[in-house]
Amino acid sequence: MKRTHHCGALSHTHVAQHVTLVGWVAGRRDHGGIIFLDLRDRYGLTQIVFDSEQNAQLHKQADRLRNEYVIEVTGTVIKRPEGSANPHLPTGEIEVCTDSLTVLNEAKPLPFAIEDEVNATEFLRLKYRYLDLRRPRMQDLLKLRSQVSHVVRDYLHRQDFVEVETPILTKSTPEGARDYLVPSRVNPGEFFALPQSPQLFKQILMIGGTDRYYQIARCFRDEDLRLDRQPEFTQIDLEMSFVDREDIMHLTESMIRLIFQETKQITLPSPFPRLTFEQAMERYGTDKPDLRFDLPLHSLRDFAKTCDFKVFRSAVENGGLVNALIVPGGGTFTRNRIDNLIDTAKEFGAKGLAWVKINGDGSLDSSIAKFLNGPALRAALPASQPGDLLLFIADQASVVYHVLGRLRLLLGEELKLIDRTQWKPLWVIDFPMFEYNQTDQRYVALHHPFTSPHANDISLLETNPLQAKTLAYDFVLNGFELGGGSIRIHSPKIQERIFDLLNISKEEAREKFGFLLDALESGAPPHGGIALGLDRFIMLLGQTESIRDVIPFPKTQKAQCLMTAAPSEVSAGQLQELSIRSTAKKPGPAS
Ligand code: AMO
Ligand code: AMP
Repeated sequence: MKRTHHCGALSHTHVAQHVTLVGWVAGRRDHGGIIFLDLRDRYGLTQIVFDSEQNAQLHKQADRLRNEYVIEVTGTVIKRPEGSANPHLPTGEIEVCTDSLTVLNEAKPLPFAIEDEVNATEFLRLKYRYLDLRRPRMQDLLKLRSQVSHVVRDYLHRQDFVEVETPILTKSTPEGARDYLVPSRVNPGEFFALPQSPQLFKQILMIGGTDRYYQIARCFRDEDLRLDRQPEFTQIDLEMSFVDREDIMHLTESMIRLIFQETKQITLPSPFPRLTFEQAMERYGTDKPDLRFDLPLHSLRDFAKTCDFKVFRSAVENGGLVNALIVPGGGTFTRNRIDNLIDTAKEFGAKGLAWVKINGDGSLDSSIAKFLNGPALRAALPASQPGDLLLFIADQASVVYHVLGRLRLLLGEELKLIDRTQWKPLWVIDFPMFEYNQTDQRYVALHHPFTSPHANDISLLETNPLQAKTLAYDFVLNGFELGGGSIRIHSPKIQERIFDLLNISKEEAREKFGFLLDALESGAPPHGGIALGLDRFIMLLGQTESIRDVIPFPKTQKAQCLMTAAPSEVSAGQLQELSIRSTAKKPGPAS
């Protein structure tokens, strides 16, 4: 069996040639004496013709074909009759008039049709992933992913990077999620952790003299899943020695620009714009702003200090903020729509949402209008216009930013402010080293604990740790965090001090990271790096809504693989061999 062409290859230049094609039956149209068949493979579709007048025997055979049968046909390429060409199909000018047909395999009736506009539930798509993958759209996404990996490898090899594989069975690397654990049979009671990232190994490689490392690395994080999160995902991970953050950001930018150019012929701006963490939070309420639209947050701190509305004044008196969104044209929102916004704000964690409409004559329309001095409010919000709706949150900074940041996104969608043809890359820099976790009453690292503070901020670790800024950078595209990295700490003393501030005792630091501390004392070069989330990158580049579309065999929201039915129970013998007993209670029958 040898095919002479793919199903996407034939055009008028092949007319009169004798060809053999193989593929899946994608559709069949029976026009009495003539059967038209669409034959599909990864490369395209070709129309095959069985004419009963030319070959009654073959026509009869073709009549028994069903969708998704795998067949081989041999025949002659002919030009389609005048008026029946299909301009939307690369092979639309021709068809193949058959002289032989072999059924290579049959297919039972399938749970859903193989077409791009799939209406099957995600459950069916994941359970029968092999059928889902036959859809041309899915094959295109797989191909895009492979193409991006290829551009990355090619680029980094040209820049003298060495591709290194780091272990999968390893020790916990803290990236803020729960670990997946693997029991060790030969060391009863002991466990490996699957890597949340290759972070520690890539730093060790720098100390080992590798100078420039990269890996297209699989990472594992047991965390709550969302549309842009999977428990098992892939990073384009790199690390470099003797560099500053400009070097890494420059190299990463060039690589990202190249990926867009080579795969989509899109030219991204150069250089990418930058915001500090503080600027991003103040203007957009998030450290991953979608810059395809503006709708910024406005500070009303000074106005609130002297205003008569107690909710506002007491928020700033208690060290919090009052911020506003100016919704252009929002003056037409109905009371019902505003009530919905209030409910949404509460779902996001706000205590309430105050609002004001600015009437045509500049007066205010609101239940709290009597507490507000209109001219002073308008002066504090110079961008506001008659006809606008103002939305206010008064609370601690974290709540104000979180709620208004999410309302901004929601209104951006609802008011169709987002230009979907645009690509808006962004660097966010100068993250704080720590944030304070009120519940646990302790500092936590905003990135990971190996991130270096700015040289000038080292002394702040002693006086005011929350003020210390780091040499970290996030790469953001259209509101998604696609990557993050930093210059690392290469001084063992500073690393120990950071562990200390994070409440990690000397013994615990030794036990968990002793190898790193030893390595840092053995001639560690200054180094830094970054990791880009490959899956999220392809999701955006391929313009698909879910990360599950760009991972060939993804997990569901409940971290299960529906096709293989993993995870699953194991035998008592296997558990015993691993010195493990399960405490799981079997869910009883549904009542
Ligand atoms: P970070 O934790 O920011 O950094 O991860 C880097 C990028 O990986 C992607 N990502 C994910 N993608 C899909 N599903 C997930 N569950 C998931 N978690 C993260 C994101 C993210 O920006 N070692 C550091 C990098 C460094 O400092 O060099 C790290 O892992 O796109
Ligand atoms: P109250 O004084 O609680 O009746 O609230 C008066 C108005 O202020 C209502 O419209 C509330 O939705 C709003 N409001 C209450 N708390 C806040 C808050 N933290 N931020 C913004 N508006 C609030």
